[in-house]
Amino acid sequence: MTETLLAPSLADRRILLIIAGGIAAYKSLDLIRRLRERGASVRVVMTEAAQQFITPLAAASLSENSVHTELFSLTDESEMGHIRLSREADLVVVAPATADILAKAALGLAGDLASTLLLATNKPILVAPAMNVVMWNHPATQANIATLRARGVLQVGPGSGDLACGEVGGGRMAEPLEIVTAIELALAPHLPLQGRRALVTSGPTFEPIDPVRYIGNRSSGKQGHAIAAALQRLGAETILVAGPTHEPVPPGVHFIAVETAREMLDACLDALPADIAVCAAAVADWRADSVAEQKIKKGAGGTPVLHFVENPDILATIAGRGGDRPALVVGFAAETEDVLGHAQAKRRRKGADWVVANDVSPATGTFGGDINTVHVITADGIDSWPPATKAEVASRLAARIAKVFEVQS
Ligand code: CTP
Repeated sequence: MTETLLAPSLADRRILLIIAGGIAAYKSLDLIRRLRERGASVRVVMTEAAQQFITPLAAASLSENSVHTELFSLTDESEMGHIRLSREADLVVVAPATADILAKAALGLAGDLASTLLLATNKPILVAPAMNVVMWNHPATQANIATLRARGVLQVGPGSGDLACGEVGGGRMAEPLEIVTAIELALAPHLPLQGRRALVTSGPTFEPIDPVRYIGNRSSGKQGHAIAAALQRLGAETILVAGPTHEPVPPGVHFIAVETAREMLDACLDALPADIAVCAAAVADWRADSVAEQKIKKGAGGTPVLHFVENPDILATIAGRGGDRPALVVGFAAETEDVLGHAQAKRRRKGADWVVANDVSPATGTFGGDINTVHVITADGIDSWPPATKAEVASRLAARIAKVFEVQS
């Protein structure tokens, strides 16, 4: 059987192919041909450097679509804007992905059309790195690819062998057929949480004292946002209810911004029913019992005394729901001493199925930092994970959650 007789595995799938400037760009022409054979529609974007290796005309002929090269020409009415170009695709493929474009993507630079599209897209991204072995092994490139992978960017290759520069080693772009297979996998992935609904709380809450002051805490929202992103990547329809943070909203996640614990509770209850609830927010335990209508001034009446009332416990409320209690309720326990003991007690007290416990004493740098060391406490025992980035902890937690639902379905 010849390849052209194969069933069109990519029928109606829309690929946005970004060709960056490397000698492997010539292989991307073959990639376009093979994608077209499989029924995919291919839109091509070329960087300026890519045009030194292959011509836009060759890519346009093979893709049967016009090729885009300039960021600002896309502002023409007749052209598709860069946002549409980046969104009207099922998958964004970067092949070859040079050290330069990986660095731009890792940093979030948007100085040209290709990097702008990578920043503007909310679709999965697959990169096929290609470069000299020393460049590939350089700590800067390795850090960039690790950053991208932690954000969910998919990678195919590079392989090793003879490189165009005459050196031998890793850095050779995956062959077009390998890239096609990776594209097929990316577009027909096994999404274990497809059809499930997940609710995630994240960040701190701010409890007002007067119009300008509030009580807050140091939660960055990094862990909660990463969990929302990871659940969404596994196919769950994900609602993220978050207090004030500087974290970007993960692509594809429904985002509800709140300030206070009571607003967070209302937003969570509105979001139910859900199959999964992960309460990662650092909710303020107390709020001022009355909020001054005007800014409290110095001098008048001496030093102000605040009276606190307890905030509702969102985790305990969700875990204690009747008919619409999520099948799996996961809480966090931020502790500064006797981490496991406090966390086990918290799991029972709040009625959570699992508690993810972490040590947040200042020496650990967990609050606001990127690394987290957690213990997952369930009714069956304690699973202690090694220190990992918050993105890695999130992926691992989402995978563990997915397992529960795989068993159920
Ligand atoms: N939590 C919540 N609502 C609150 C307080 C906490 O949903 N009002 C949730 C957090 O999102 C987390 C878990 O409860 O999942 C534990 O939070 P933590 O701050 O560790 O516990 P507290 O209940 O505040 O207990 P303590 O301050 O005594 O440690």
